[in-house]
Amino acid sequence: MAAVRRKLFVKSYGCQMNAYDATRMADVLAPEGYEETTEITEADLVILNTCHIRERAAEKIFSELGKVRIVKEERHARGLTTKIAVAGCVAQAEGAEIFRRQKAVDLVVGPQSYHRLPEMLREAEGSTSVLDTDFPLEDKFGQLQPPSRSKIASRGVSAFVTIQEGCDKFCTFCVVPYTRGAEMSRPVAQIAGEVEHLVSAGVREVTLLGQNVNAYHGHDSAGGNCSLATLVVELSRIPGLRRLRYMTSHPNDMSEDLIAAHAGETALMPFLHLPVQSGSDRILGSMNRKHSAQSYLDLIARIRLVRPDIALSSDFIVGFPGETEADFQATLDLVSTVGYASTYFFKYSMRPGTPGAQMPDQVAESVKSERLARLQVLADGQRRAFNASAVGRTMDVLFEKKGRHPGQIAGKTPYMQAVQVDGADHLIGEVAAVEVIGTSSNSLFGRLVEHRS
Ligand code: SAH
Ligand code: SF4
Ligand code: F3S
Repeated sequence: MAAVRRKLFVKSYGCQMNAYDATRMADVLAPEGYEETTEITEADLVILNTCHIRERAAEKIFSELGKVRIVKEERHARGLTTKIAVAGCVAQAEGAEIFRRQKAVDLVVGPQSYHRLPEMLREAEGSTSVLDTDFPLEDKFGQLQPPSRSKIASRGVSAFVTIQEGCDKFCTFCVVPYTRGAEMSRPVAQIAGEVEHLVSAGVREVTLLGQNVNAYHGHDSAGGNCSLATLVVELSRIPGLRRLRYMTSHPNDMSEDLIAAHAGETALMPFLHLPVQSGSDRILGSMNRKHSAQSYLDLIARIRLVRPDIALSSDFIVGFPGETEADFQATLDLVSTVGYASTYFFKYSMRPGTPGAQMPDQVAESVKSERLARLQVLADGQRRAFNASAVGRTMDVLFEKKGRHPGQIAGKTPYMQAVQVDGADHLIGEVAAVEVIGTSSNSLFGRLVEHRS
């Protein structure tokens, strides 16, 4: 019997792994008759896939839920039922507390349990609320449905694939080890199968995801353990896959074979997101990062030795407990020394249950804001200089979508810069050489040099 046709609205917050999970939730629900909609008022099921990393991210969910509740009530007045599900890291961290804070919620499902959504929805028929925040023993990924070819095509030529989940590092500011659980890696064959399926439906770039992606150590078919470097080599042999990227890496897991892969594997793009968090060894120690500013700089020197053009990005936390002006100055010095293509800064946010929240010498909000602004000025200058250095160069661009104006298409350089060119839509999904002729604050402008597919 064909499933009843229903509409699904999914909104994802937080990191790329959450974005990937949101697509997989839609895939798991497709055989149940759920079709995605961008109109929340049409949705029979609303899923908020939430993030718990900073206080503001978590609190935003409860104000969003207030709005979704109004939609549910309006639909109820029209004789329509709506189920509301909270998924992701707030679901994991807050569990049943969510039902107490927002009574309109029907389902709470943690990041390791969403393959059970169809079953949970059946349990939630009527008015029962259903919770699943277990870390089950069965392999979630092994239970997920592959998306249809048309679904893949609608999501674009660049796709995410989670290969590793969880974290055993316990940085003292971070909730991820608690919300995502212990580190686990997907088997090589499962990942290769997923990537082959995506590529056969038109995907040309895959970003391998993990909270600690370079700690990857999945089983291979010979019963051994496979590193990220070996996985990259294996996946780059898939015909039709033009580009591979991975994120997010921890400096301590940047192995020699992975560094070497950046020299030899042409599909592996010369861009690396390598969060350092702070330039002060005292603060890095108190963050439990287990690396120093100098060991990070030495690592970057080793990577640049084999791949001199590699572009780097990083995350920084300003105002970690005990951070003095001298510690902050050390962060500014590190940024000046490295020269980043892009950077992400966050004001330290106290997270319940993490050691950082218990530390004395919490930094005043005004000091955090002032330091963030200074770091921003430095990093903005570096980003502009990096983009300006592209002008006059010819680079391969993977075209991903239509551009801002009619007759334009948009894509990315190997270094993750957005580029707009005058060009025909049929180039979308192809890699072509582009001469960069100008920049704006967020993107490059270019001219097609030649077309090779
Ligand atoms: N290794 C992870 C990091 C996840 S969190 C990954 O896969 O991306 C992303 C970033 O959020 C961290 O690098 C850190 O800079 C920031 N962050 C984490 N906890 C935070 C907190 N309590 N306050 C402010 N920023 C935080
Ligand atoms: Fe969080 Fe640190 Fe683990 Fe990254 S390495 S997820 S920052 S605990
Ligand atoms: Fe947020 Fe969870 Fe990702 S806390 S950053 S959604 S791992």
